[in-house]
Amino acid sequence: MSIDKVAVIDFGSQYTHLIARRIRELRVYSEVVPYNVNIEEIEKIRPKALILSGGPRSVYEKSSPKIKKEILDWAIKENIPILGICYGHQLIVHMLGGKVERGEEGEYGISILKVLREDIIFHGAATEQKVWMSHKDQVVELPPEFIVLASTQYTPIAAYKSNEKQIYGLQFHPEVKHTKYGMKILRNFLYKVCKCKPTWKLSDFIERKIREIRKIVGNGNVIMAASGGVDSTTAAYIISKAVGERLHLVYVNTGLMRENEDEEVMETFRKLGFKNVHYINAKDIFLERLKGVVDPEKKRQIIAKTFIEIFENKAKELEKKYGRIEFLGQGTIYPDRIESGQASPVADRIKSHHNVVLPKGMKLRLIEPIADLYKDEVRRLALEMGLPRNLVKRHPFPGPGLAIRIIGEVTEDKLRILRKADKIVEEEMKRSGWYWKVWQAFPVLLSIKTVGVMGDQRAYEYAIALRVVYSEDGMTADFVKIPWKLLEKIASRIVNEVERVNRVLYDVTNKPPATIEFE
Ligand code: XMP
Repeated sequence: MSIDKVAVIDFGSQYTHLIARRIRELRVYSEVVPYNVNIEEIEKIRPKALILSGGPRSVYEKSSPKIKKEILDWAIKENIPILGICYGHQLIVHMLGGKVERGEEGEYGISILKVLREDIIFHGAATEQKVWMSHKDQVVELPPEFIVLASTQYTPIAAYKSNEKQIYGLQFHPEVKHTKYGMKILRNFLYKVCKCKPTWKLSDFIERKIREIRKIVGNGNVIMAASGGVDSTTAAYIISKAVGERLHLVYVNTGLMRENEDEEVMETFRKLGFKNVHYINAKDIFLERLKGVVDPEKKRQIIAKTFIEIFENKAKELEKKYGRIEFLGQGTIYPDRIESGQASPVADRIKSHHNVVLPKGMKLRLIEPIADLYKDEVRRLALEMGLPRNLVKRHPFPGPGLAIRIIGEVTEDKLRILRKADKIVEEEMKRSGWYWKVWQAFPVLLSIKTVGVMGDQRAYEYAIALRVVYSEDGMTADFVKIPWKLLEKIASRIVNEVERVNRVLYDVTNKPPATIEFE
C-alpha cells in the first residue's frame, strides 16, 4: 500500500521540523525539502499537499528564499492543496499578486484569533482562540479570489483561503503547542482539505524496512559500528532482524565513554541476541592522539579519523574470516542528515558529526534503516520492538564522547574527574525523576581553575558547568529551570565527592545561540 506524503518546504524557520513532526504525529508521512527544490524532486515525492514553512526573512527582499514559481503553478494545476505558515503565508500572497508590508509593530507570543468566516479548516475550533505569533511583516492585500478567514487585533489578515484554488494561509503557527487548536487545524487541513489517510504507522515501517533490507543485502554481509545509543542499537536491531548473523557489530571502546559504559553496552547487545559482536579496546590510541590538542574541531577530526582507521582494520580482518563485506549499517536519523548539511542549503555546518561520514576508500553501500525518522519516532519504534526501556529513555550522548565535554586538552585525569561528576548528575537526575523529563543533563569540565576555600584552606581547582536542556529534536533547545534544591544537591555532591573540583556553574543559555554541547 502506498502512503500519503506531505512535502514541507523549508524557508529556514526554527519550527520547520516541528511542522513535519506534527504531521507525522497525525500519522501522515512528511518530508522537509529545501526552498530551492526542483519540480522533478517534488514530482518524485508525489505529495498530497505542500506546506510552506515560516522563515526569518522578508518576502519582498530580493534575495529572500522563494519557492520556484513552476512548483506553485504545478500544485495549483494538479489541485494539490497548499498551506502557508507565517513566512509561507506571506510568500503565497507575494507570489500570486497580493501585497506584504512591514507592520507597524511586530506580534510575538500569544494573540487572540477571531474566526470571521466558518471554514472547514477551523472545524471544531472555537471562534476566539489563542494562537502563537511571531512576525513583523504582514499581508495587507490578498490576491484576487482570496478571502480573509480570521484576524487578530494587530493582524487583519491572520488566515485566508483562496475561493477557487486549494490554498490556505496562516500567519500564526499551528505547529506550536501554545496555539490551542493548532493540531485540530492541521488535522482539518490534512484529512478534510487534502483527504489524506492516516497511513504512517511505525509497525508497518519496521516490516517494510526489514523486507527492503533483505532484498538489498541478499546473502551479503553488513558491518556496523555500534555505540550502544538508541539510534545505532535500533538500526542494528532492525538490520539483525533482516540478515541475522550476517550483521557484524563493531564496538570500539574509545576511552571517552562514561563510567562502566562499555560493560553495560556489551550486556545490552548480549540481551538483544546480537550474534557477531566485536569489542575493540582502543583507549590508549585515542588518548595518545588527543595529547596536546585543544581545538574542538581538531579533536572531533582526530577522533573520527582514528575511529574509522580502527573500524577499517577490523573490517579487513572480518572479511578474511567471513568473505566480502559490501554493506555498512548506520544509525543515521533525520536530523543528522540535516545538521550535517545533507538536506538543507540554508543549514550551516556547525559541527562535524562523525556518525555520517562514510569511511574513505571503503566501497560500501549504506544501510540506514532509520534515516527518515525523528528521535521521538526512533524511541517509539524501539519500544515497540521490545528494546529495553533504559536504553530507549537514555539521554543522547555524542559520538566523540567526553572529549567534547572537556574544554581544552583531554587527559586521563580530566576524564576521571568528569566521569565521576557525570555519574553524580545522572544519579541525582534519576532519583528526583527529572532525568526522564529533560532531553539531556550533563556536566562539562571547563578546565579553568578558580579559587575556593576547602577545609579552611585556599583551594585552586577546576570548575564544572552543568547543562540541562529540554529539546524535541536536538536542533533547538531551552535550558531547564530545575529546582534550586536539586541544583544545590548536585553541586554539593560534585564538590564534595569529586576531587579537584571546587565550583559548579549552571548554563542558562538556549540553543540558539549556544549549542547543546560545549564543543
Ligand atoms: P549540539 O551541540 O550541536 O548538539 O547542539 C545537538 C545534539 O547532538 C548531539 N551531538 C552529537 N551526536 N555525534 C553525535 O552522535 C556528535 O558528534 C555530536 N555532537 C553533538 C548532542 O549531544 C545534542 O543532543
